[in-house]
Amino acid sequence: MRILVTGGAGFIGSHIVDELVKLNHQVSIVDNLSTGSEENLNKNARFYKCDITNKETLRLVFELEKPEIVIHHAAQIDVQTSLKKAAFDAKVNIRGTINVLECCKEVKTRKIIYPSSAAVYGDPKYLPVDEEHPINPISFYGISKHTPEHYIKVYSELYGIKYTIFRYSNVYGERQGAKGEGGVVSIFIDKFLAKEVPSIFGDGEQTRDFIYVKDVAKANLLALDKGDNEILNISTNTQVSVNKLFEIMREIFVVKIVPVYKEVRDGDIEHSYLDNTRAKEIINLKNEYELQEGLEETVKYYMNLNSVADEVAVAKNI
Ligand SMILES: NC(=O)c1ccc[n+]([C@@H]2O[C@H](COP(=O)([O-])OP(=O)(O)OC[C@H]3O[C@@H](n4cnc5c(N)ncnc54)[C@H](O)[C@@H]3O)[C@@H](O)[C@H]2O)c1
Repeated sequence: MRILVTGGAGFIGSHIVDELVKLNHQVSIVDNLSTGSEENLNKNARFYKCDITNKETLRLVFELEKPEIVIHHAAQIDVQTSLKKAAFDAKVNIRGTINVLECCKEVKTRKIIYPSSAAVYGDPKYLPVDEEHPINPISFYGISKHTPEHYIKVYSELYGIKYTIFRYSNVYGERQGAKGEGGVVSIFIDKFLAKEVPSIFGDGEQTRDFIYVKDVAKANLLALDKGDNEILNISTNTQVSVNKLFEIMREIFVVKIVPVYKEVRDGDIEHSYLDNTRAKEIINLKNEYELQEGLEETVKYYMNLNSVADEVAVAKNI
């Protein structure tokens, strides 16, 4: 199939591209490399350096590629940036998605897969949070991830574009930057590798639902031919405190560092874990990686990167 992945140079998008290429799909990537990187680009996918807020360039790419399916992962992903730059956040996440939808309409794309977020639910009224839970974002990022859900549904009703809307919990894994929703894992790893003391905002008893990126990539593959016109939580259905996460990582690194506790930040949700029953039923979602296993894989990756960087530094006599 011809599949276009926006944000395919980023953390989650690049894992999806890798899986699609393995399955011999014809894959193209649209990314402006703002948080993504060229190193993440799969050599067997065509890459267009293009900003989704630039409708004219985006249209040219769509006309060339004529994607049958669009997996739209390009976004402004940082809650704190959304609080400081609400208009920019909306421009990328809302207007950018409208541009993508317009292009889908023009080239008759069959289906769009869109990653929304646990952030749309805000502070949970009950746990685990299912898809019927009230929508009540407490950050501009939560609003800008939710608003496109409405656009997608109306584009679908008016122009017949099918969709699967995913609401991811906190995704972690290889290639993650420090700013996204599962970013705490990559922050801890950076600190452990640098032998520095990590900070925890609040008392560390806040909980999250950490899902490994390879399981998320698989969910996207499943949605290529399942889950039409559905909204599905993609998660592990498991609550893990930030303190517990810290403890597991300390064991993996075999170190005795103690974290520094800092004040809670605006826009941070206290407890969150998502009910994934519907995704299991409808697209046959599988959580193949336990937290410990996914963390070990992730740490291995960052350790390798670090030792390569050390070798380069030694070679260059830095
Ligand atoms: N990481 C998580 O835990 C999580 C949770 C819920 C939802 N999501 C969603 O998943 C998607 C991917 O997130 P990620 O964590 O991989 O982040 P990421 O920053 O690694 O990926 C986003 C990609 O989009 C690109 N991009 C940003 N603005 C762009 C623009 N204007 N035009 C073109 N490309 C642009 C970036 O360069 C980057 O490659 C996002 O839509 C995010 O909202 C992520």
